[in-house]
Amino acid sequence: MAHSEIISMFPPEHTVPEQYLLDYPMEQREYLCDGEIRQWYGDLQDVVSPIHGAILDAEQQKFLGRYPLLTEKVALEVLESACNAYGNGRGLWPIMSIAERILCVETFTCKMVEQRQEVVKLLMWEIGKTLSDAEKEFDRTIDYIRDTIDALKDLDRTSSRFVFEAGIIGQIRRAPLGVVLCMGPFNYPLNETFTTLIPALIMGNTVVFKPPKLGVLLHKPLLQAFRDSFPNGVVNTVYGDGQEVVGPLMKSGRIDVLAFIGTSRVADILKNQHPKPHRLRCILGLEAKNAGIILSDADIENTVKECVLGSLSFNGQRCTALKVLFIHRNIADTFIDRFCAAVDKLQLGMPWDSETRITPLPEPNKSAYLNELIEDAVGKGAEIVNNNGGKAGHTLVAPTVVYPVSASMRLFSEEQFGPVVPIVPFDTMEEPMNYVADSAYGQQVSIFGNDHKEIAQLVDALVNQVCRVNINCQCQRGPDTFPFTGRKDSAEGTLSVTDALRAFSIRTLAAAKETTANKRILQSIVTERCSKFLSTDFIF
Ligand code: G3H
Repeated sequence: MAHSEIISMFPPEHTVPEQYLLDYPMEQREYLCDGEIRQWYGDLQDVVSPIHGAILDAEQQKFLGRYPLLTEKVALEVLESACNAYGNGRGLWPIMSIAERILCVETFTCKMVEQRQEVVKLLMWEIGKTLSDAEKEFDRTIDYIRDTIDALKDLDRTSSRFVFEAGIIGQIRRAPLGVVLCMGPFNYPLNETFTTLIPALIMGNTVVFKPPKLGVLLHKPLLQAFRDSFPNGVVNTVYGDGQEVVGPLMKSGRIDVLAFIGTSRVADILKNQHPKPHRLRCILGLEAKNAGIILSDADIENTVKECVLGSLSFNGQRCTALKVLFIHRNIADTFIDRFCAAVDKLQLGMPWDSETRITPLPEPNKSAYLNELIEDAVGKGAEIVNNNGGKAGHTLVAPTVVYPVSASMRLFSEEQFGPVVPIVPFDTMEEPMNYVADSAYGQQVSIFGNDHKEIAQLVDALVNQVCRVNINCQCQRGPDTFPFTGRKDSAEGTLSVTDALRAFSIRTLAAAKETTANKRILQSIVTERCSKFLSTDFIF
């Protein structure tokens, strides 16, 4: 594949199917504060697409629009709105019954579904996600919200009773924590933001949310839905430079929970800005360098299929992607031949074409960075082993397989987050096992093999190094009911539909000695439905 062939994949504007055309720049001046969609008249940030414009003007990335670069002053007004809505736990939202909160989230979900087409279109243009992956991201998010509602109903049902223990009567429930700052990543800007935002909200917290640097405009169609579904100040948005708008929020000491998906470097900066770190709960999804370990008796066909998916879905831009493959030397040649053939079949192109598997990369200068990693490995003795490897045009980078990779190369330990697959040969299991143990990260691992005794031994050792061991399949987050977390520099806190409800709440209780007078008081509170907390109401 020649460089010019890749460049020619960027389409003239008139060839973009009409339903996916974005023929207007979106000038977003709006931000959500205190239940109002306010207008911002200050500086704006330009947003360009990873997709270059018409062929005649191919040097230019398509201009998509602008969003507000809010100032510290406005960010603090937004925070004030979230704090007022929480009202030290006495606001309308935190004291609302769970059934009423669920109703608000259901209203929001209906309004969100109406925006599906627009959000999916923007996911394609802003971050280059394929149409089918963008649709999956949207639909998976809706499913996640519905599952969260069901999980909360379950949780509430088990809490709708009194406990009698050692002469004490108690009712134990989960209560909100306060104001949550939600910041998602660019690769799943909708889904991963909402997997923290929705549980945070439904548990009674109020939220300030900042979309990732890439993938901002796609949230605009949802602003009205947020405004119209929740009480004033419960959901608020900030946009702009992290140092200008997020720093002051953290330094204020008024953020109770930081839900952040990004790098550990930024997470550490944010945590350290909080004046009372012991008051801050952190739910963090950070870097990973998940290894695929291919044993000598692995089923080659299945392993190739899973490794292609695992390393190159959404161009390898998944935190769960397989970012290094360890291959037993006995089957290295066979595996690499078959793997490279499958990789070279992946179609490069535009997100809306149904055959496309590899799309333009949204991060600035990403192609140059990946090239640096490849050159470093080649300079130290590795080779590009697939036919299309090493080719790129503008933001489109052909998937590149590099072999044999060794410890001195950057690709061995650096999280490439792109379509480059390093393969490391090994002779003894100690080599990949030491790799996992020495790695700065500890999210997941995949093992491919057939000997049940060997697999059992590996599982027993690896579950103490990472948080999910996948057998004969790629690494992944789903299903969303499974716990998703990591060790070392990969995560803090656990997310799943049910774990997230716990992460954004704390157990609290009301208790009384089991005397006749106290029983009478509690009985009256329950019968006359005077309290939302002391209640035996059951959500059906
Ligand atoms: O980027 C990290 C995502 O949570 C991965 O989710 O494994 O379903 O693609 P996924």
